[in-house]
Amino acid sequence: MGIRITPSILNADFNNLDSEIAKVAPVSDLLHLDVMDNLFVPNFTFDFETAVSIISRSPIPVDSHLMIEDVDTLAPAYAHAGSASVTIHAEASSHPSRTLAAIRSEGARAGLALKPQSRIEDYEDCIDSVDMFLIMTVEPGFGGQKFMHAMMDKVRATKSIIGDRPIWLQVDGGISLETIEIARDAGADTFVAGSAVFNSADPAEMIGKLRALAEF
Ligand code: DX5
Ligand code: ZN
Repeated sequence: MGIRITPSILNADFNNLDSEIAKVAPVSDLLHLDVMDNLFVPNFTFDFETAVSIISRSPIPVDSHLMIEDVDTLAPAYAHAGSASVTIHAEASSHPSRTLAAIRSEGARAGLALKPQSRIEDYEDCIDSVDMFLIMTVEPGFGGQKFMHAMMDKVRATKSIIGDRPIWLQVDGGISLETIEIARDAGADTFVAGSAVFNSADPAEMIGKLRALAEF
């Protein structure tokens, strides 16, 4: 199925987002947009209107990662606004399958994310509604945290549950030149990288290096 690099703009310069996005767009598969409401996680990034503006201006498809409490109500609107993919947190949803179906019916891919404490086995019944699983490799909320090696067992378990279904397996948090192959070897095929990309002198070159390692 190939691999995808989905850079997160969380650690980009929010005052110059268009030029930050332009640096990575030509070499990225999707742009990873971290939406935080200061309720589900202790951090705030964008309100809905700002997210919609970024989604509509992005030159490449947007992968919206919703770290928000009221996700069952709001997720379909992020799909309707033009996200190519909308990922909800299992922990925030009272009926993940229904919300994933609503995302799909708005024409986006539907993603289901798990925080480090959550077990993939508890969400196996959602599998027919899922286009991507996101296994968090840090506690959601902030960029620049250390990759949690202990999550690799969960990535392997998720890969085995996916079997040969065409479901993407994304990892998010602490992905860098040091960790991307570890996550790939465990079964991940879709890689979020925030600080590794935007704290480097040449973000596009960094994405090329990450891609080369993940593809090898
Ligand atoms: C964290 C976000 C991530 C974040 C990753 O809650 O979901 O997408 O931007 O940042 P790094 O790659 O620096 O860990
Ligand atoms: Zn994210």
